[in-house]
Amino acid sequence: MIGIFDSGSGGLTVLKEIRALAPQCDIVYFGDFVHVPYGEKTPEELGALTVIAVEKLLEEGATEIVSACNSVSASIAQPLIQLLGRKQFGMIEMIGPTVGALKEQAQEGITIGLVATPATVRSGIYHNAFSAEQITIKAIGIPGLTDAIESGADEATLTNIFSSAVDELKKASCSTIILGCTQYPLIKEVFESYSPDTIFFNPAHAVADKVVKRFDTDGNGTLRFLLSQDSDIFRKMVTEFFPEEEYVIEVL
Ligand code: DGL
Repeated sequence: MIGIFDSGSGGLTVLKEIRALAPQCDIVYFGDFVHVPYGEKTPEELGALTVIAVEKLLEEGATEIVSACNSVSASIAQPLIQLLGRKQFGMIEMIGPTVGALKEQAQEGITIGLVATPATVRSGIYHNAFSAEQITIKAIGIPGLTDAIESGADEATLTNIFSSAVDELKKASCSTIILGCTQYPLIKEVFESYSPDTIFFNPAHAVADKVVKRFDTDGNGTLRFLLSQDSDIFRKMVTEFFPEEEYVIEVL
């Protein structure tokens, strides 16, 4: 069984792609709505929350874990290494597959834009990962955007929050912008309607592709959501994302 975790609804973007590639896979998803937004926390706080999330998923029977959260993927190295030392499980995170997919498409010498949480940008992880590929990353953190998405803000409010970041990246000649926070692809069409000539890259497919290649995805197609706090917006998204599926939502 695969365990997926995120601060909230963002991991649904990754889950949706995994489901499309491996509908038979058993999945348990943890959304930590008590602590959203993760992207405005320190690496120490993120490390502690990650250990709790991973242990919860392992307790529930997950044998392999997907960190569907860039902020965690960018910040957790130390606590996870310790946890990995104690328990046996596979782990796939967001950054490696994203870099792998984009470096195949991108020409050397170009500048790719990144919008992400302050925690991801502060970590410098995308910048470091691409520097070996002769690709420059211009990264801008957008405080408040995750919260706005999770609270169902309207298009004008969302655009107001991200527009100056997109403008700045376009001025720096970025024709591709990575949506480097898993909540952001939930509003990909809002980004696209603000800047139709920009390619907004959703990393979810690259991550799902790695999951089906590396993890055992056999199963009965069960789908369980564990939430540290209830969220009507999350419930609505699950209904929209998985209209045909049976699933269970439990509030812990
Ligand atoms: N979904 C997470 C990410 O990809 C965290 C967003 C947040 O809670 O701030 O960075």
